[in-house]
Formats: sequence, C-alpha cells, structure tokens
Amino acid sequence: MKKIILTGDRPTGRLHVGHYVGSLRRRVELQNSGEYDEIHIMIADAQALTDNADNPEKVRQNISEVALDYLSCGIDPEKTNLLVQSYIAELTELTFYYSNLVTVSRLQRNPTVKSEIQMRGFHSSIPVGFFTYPISQAADITAFKATTVPVGEDQLPMLEQAREIVRSFNSTYDEVLVEPKALLPENQVCSRLPGIDGKAKMSKSLGNCIYLSDDPEDIRKKVMSMFTDPNHIRVEDPGSLEGNTVFTYLDAFCKDELFAEHLPEYQNLQEMKDHYTRGGLGDVKVKKFLYQVLMEELSPIQARRKELEKDVPAVMEILRKGSIAAREIAANTLSEVKEAMKINYWSE
Ligand code: TRP
Repeated sequence: MKKIILTGDRPTGRLHVGHYVGSLRRRVELQNSGEYDEIHIMIADAQALTDNADNPEKVRQNISEVALDYLSCGIDPEKTNLLVQSYIAELTELTFYYSNLVTVSRLQRNPTVKSEIQMRGFHSSIPVGFFTYPISQAADITAFKATTVPVGEDQLPMLEQAREIVRSFNSTYDEVLVEPKALLPENQVCSRLPGIDGKAKMSKSLGNCIYLSDDPEDIRKKVMSMFTDPNHIRVEDPGSLEGNTVFTYLDAFCKDELFAEHLPEYQNLQEMKDHYTRGGLGDVKVKKFLYQVLMEELSPIQARRKELEKDVPAVMEILRKGSIAAREIAANTLSEVKEAMKINYWSE
C-alpha cells in the first residue's frame, strides 16, 4: 500500500514557533526522508471559515502568509503538494455523504470541538458548519487516502472521527477508504510550546506568540519579556525549571553544538540547567542565549521568506497548480465513493 501523508493548517494567522517545533520542522524531515509516496499539505481555508464566517478577508490574506511560512521553512513544492481546501469542491460532496454516518451525539463528544466552542463563546449559537467540521476534516484526509497524518495532540479526536467514518463507510458500502494514523510530535515539549507569558498555548488572541516572520528586534524583546521563575529574584538564588518558559524553549530549540559558539562555559543544556537550579545564573544571561539559539534557527528561514515575498504571485501559482493536482485525486476518490454508494447512475 502507498504511504501517503496529508496534513494542514487553518489560515487564520502567520505561523509561529509553536507551529514550527510542533509540526513544520517534522514535515520538512518527513518530506526529505523519501519514505512517502505522496505528501499533501492543505491550507484549510474552508475550515477556517467555519468560525470566521464574518471575516473572509482575514482568511484570504493568510493563504499566502501560511504558504510563505511553509516554503521558507523548507517545504519543497517539487516534493510536497500544497493545496487550498476550498478549491477542491469534491471535499464538500464527500462531507455530505459522510455526515449520514455520524450522529449528533458523537459530534457533541468531540473534546477538541467542545473546548473550541467554549473558547469562542458560542454557547448555544454554534454554527452548524463549525459543529460538523470533524466530518469535513475526515473528507480532507480520506479524499487523498492518507495513511499518515502528522498533527498535534489536539487533533487526535479528529483522527479518531475519521477512522470511525472509514470503518463505517467500508462496512456499509464497500472497501474504498483507507484508515489513517496520526503521527504525533516526538516529545511533550514540542507538542505544546507555551506562549511567552508561560500560558498553556501560544495563541494570537493572547498576544503571546513569537512568529516565524517577526523581525529580530521584536523577537529579542519578546524573549527578554518571557516568563521565568518568579521566585528567582537575585542571581545567587536557586532557580526552578518547572514551568520556566525560557528553559522550555531551550528544550525545544537548543542543540549542544551552540554552546561552543555562544556560551562556551557550558558544554550542554544540562550543565546550564544545573547551574541555574544551584543558583548563580541570572535570567538575563539565559534569555540572551535563548535569543541566539532562536535566531540560529530562524535567520535562514527569514532570509528565504524575504526572497519569496518579492514574488507572491509565484507562490499563489504554486498553490493553484497543487490544488488542481489535488482536485484530480479527490475526484477519483469521490467517484469510487459514489460507485460504492450506488449513486453512479450514468458512469457505468
Ligand atoms: N484542524 C486542523 C487545525 O486546526 C487543520 C486541518 C484541516 C487538518 N484539515 C486537516 C489537519 C486535515 C490535518 C488533516 O490546525
């Protein structure tokens, strides 16, 4: 069986370093591993509209922003197909048929949707499109017969829903769809990078993100304002690593080689942590080092982005070509689906 990856993001903002360690960095590795027959990355604009119906301009503007972030991180359109969800009309058709296989109570149990409803304050005015987006996401995944879906932990309920739909479809009609598996980030730190304020999640509305495309001066300011150990008042005081955002970021970004160049008094992160917990290492020094560590990783990405930004129409053209190719794949799956459902009256 072919090994096929599909994953995606809602275009509601530029991507931040949480996206980077949680998924982008991994996608580039998977792309370059040569182990997959097909890789598709979807800019999920239709899904973004399920809770941004009144803000189409935001979604529109972020299509190219997200694509620029992908390409500057090393996603290569020769190896990875980039597509825009709304172009693939077949996805909405699949969603309609799959919705017969899912109950309202099943949708109500989806923990990620539940917490999103809370966060967005929908109360009892939940848009139907938003409520049913897990079905649409199952269409995204199954249209490409994806076997592997690299996602963060919060997307596991979507994968479970997709797998149930596949099993139900295949047993009710015919063995057409493929059950996908989630591929989670390698470790806990990368799965949920906190915001600079130490809050659980980086989020635009909390204003606690470091964006991949922030300029270096902004990044420096954000790093210097990061949450650390509130009880670590004097340099001599022993510091705590627990919930210490600066160290969490170092866990996600630091490579031991970087000490030799930027902070040769330590050989590795463990030595630095030991000094911090013993006392005698100040927050400012750790923050300055973190800034350098971040810029080592982000500078090449930002340089590529600057180049790509000079020709946004070329980026849109990559998306257009990718969407056309994707549409063909989805159309094939849809015709197999309709045949299995016996609604293929004129295609025999
Ligand atoms: N729900 C995902 C998010 O919020 C975006 C997404 C849409 C997606 N369709 C997908 C992810 C299919 C993986 C597979 O980021």
